[in-house]
Amino acid sequence: MIRRAEVADHPWIIASGAEAYHDLGDYTRILPSWLEQPGVLAWIDHDAQGRGRGFAMLGFYTEDPTGARSAAGTQHVVADLLALAVLPLYQRRGIGGKLLSHVIEVAERVAPSSHISQLRLTVAEDNVGAQRLYARTGFRIVDGSATYDRGQRALRMARPLGTPARK
Ligand SMILES: CC(C)(COP(=O)(O)OP(=O)(O)OC[C@H]1O[C@@H](n2cnc3c(N)ncnc32)[C@H](O)[C@@H]1OP(=O)(O)O)[C@@H](O)C(=O)NCCC(=O)NCCS
Repeated sequence: MIRRAEVADHPWIIASGAEAYHDLGDYTRILPSWLEQPGVLAWIDHDAQGRGRGFAMLGFYTEDPTGARSAAGTQHVVADLLALAVLPLYQRRGIGGKLLSHVIEVAERVAPSSHISQLRLTVAEDNVGAQRLYARTGFRIVDGSATYDRGQRALRMARPLGTPARK
């Protein structure tokens, strides 16, 4: 079951995300800074007892034509899948796929009124499992030479909005 995350869920999201991304950077610092931004939404998948199994974070940003993020001006809005993680115990049961579909649905819903043409994400170059999931839901590689904070090689992927996902 998927629900919007509340402030009370933030410590769980930060702890779970920091664990999932510990190779990529200091996510105990990065995740709270994302969660406090007004344009960032988060969802949790939980079991019947309400225990979290995975989460997804979607950010809406304005961007100027040079690609720099900024809060005002003549920028256009872009949507970023900031994080997607499922606790190791619950992986390969379809939870990540359901969270991703949910995020895509939300992005599709707001895209026309906010003039958002694509949903973007960054994924580690060696994370082939996640890349398969993203490719299956319509994401394509747009930059094969990105890097994370600690220098790990990464891919930027994007999925057009307004185009149904291939199931
Ligand atoms: C990536 C992640 C979110 C996937 O969640 P999940 O619940 O395991 O995903 P699903 O069960 O919905 O799997 C959907 C598809 O993803 C792909 N996939 C997921 N994990 C995979 C793996 N370890 N190896 C190969 N393919 C994988 C497969 O195509 C899979 O479909 P299939 O099981 O029919 O082959 C999860 O593995 C995770 O949290 N990993 C650590 C954090 C991370 O890497 N997040 C993404 C960073 S951008």
